[in-house]
Amino acid sequence: MLTIAITSGKGGVGKTTFAANLAAALQETGEQTTVFDADLQLANLDIVLGIAPTHNLQHVVSGEKTLREIATTGPGGLTAITGASAVPMLMRAGPKKLGLFMEQIAQLDAETDILVFDTAAGLDQRVMTFMKLAQEVIVVVSPDPTSITDAYATVKTLFRKDPGARVKVVFNMANPVEARRLFESFEKIVWSYLKKHVDFLGSVRHDMEAARATRKRQLFVVENPTCGAAQDIRAIAQEVRNWKDITMLRAG
Ligand SMILES: Nc1ncnc2c1ncn2[C@@H]1O[C@H](COP(=O)(O)OP(=O)(O)OP(=O)(O)O)[C@@H](O)[C@H]1O
Ligand SMILES: [Mg+2]
Repeated sequence: MLTIAITSGKGGVGKTTFAANLAAALQETGEQTTVFDADLQLANLDIVLGIAPTHNLQHVVSGEKTLREIATTGPGGLTAITGASAVPMLMRAGPKKLGLFMEQIAQLDAETDILVFDTAAGLDQRVMTFMKLAQEVIVVVSPDPTSITDAYATVKTLFRKDPGARVKVVFNMANPVEARRLFESFEKIVWSYLKKHVDFLGSVRHDMEAARATRKRQLFVVENPTCGAAQDIRAIAQEVRNWKDITMLRAG
């Protein structure tokens, strides 16, 4: 199972939209994909997916259900594990309960090829728990200067807490030329201050069709597959799929 965490410096840059649509695009390529709501401030993956599961992470934390039991089928056949802000409760649960929970995540391996965590902006201790489970981290950035400076702060924290982290950057609501240019200056700053590498993963254009689908609680990759943003996400999904093959090779 390939595990990926999606995060950002600043909130509202499109993490949940990106995570959900990327998961749908990965599912479309034939990989069984699970998207997991690890946003402790504002768990809203269920809303973005347009689903209302009867059970969620809260029931796992309370011990009523297992992770597998709350997994729900969402748009395009992806699997969703939704949160309802259960994460703070989870983090207060104590090391034993937390350990059991982490074990359940590892067990998802049996039916999941790719696991995508949608996390909150800004890496606090609780978000880091999920980051450490992820083999790859995708930092979503918008072309807004404050988003970029906040992304730098996030990357710095990430490398401090996990020096071996593998970090990829996606520019959301950006055109490809602008994204490349912004990435190059971002990468230079990261290298000169932190002596670490970050990789460019791609960009997703600002797309009114995508915004419209999101307002209707639909995934544009599924409902509006030809729109520009869907094409961009699909290109990124192809790249992510390659990581999976590389991870499998490494694991032997
Ligand atoms: N490529 C895009 N084109 C147009 N609108 C977009 C695009 N990506 C995201 N949006 C819009 O941006 C808004 C914020 O998206 P989203 O909720 O996914 O952000 P977030 O980073 O998860 O926010 P939070 O930090 O609150 O969790 C939504 O209204 C969404 O429709
Ligand atoms: Mg979000």
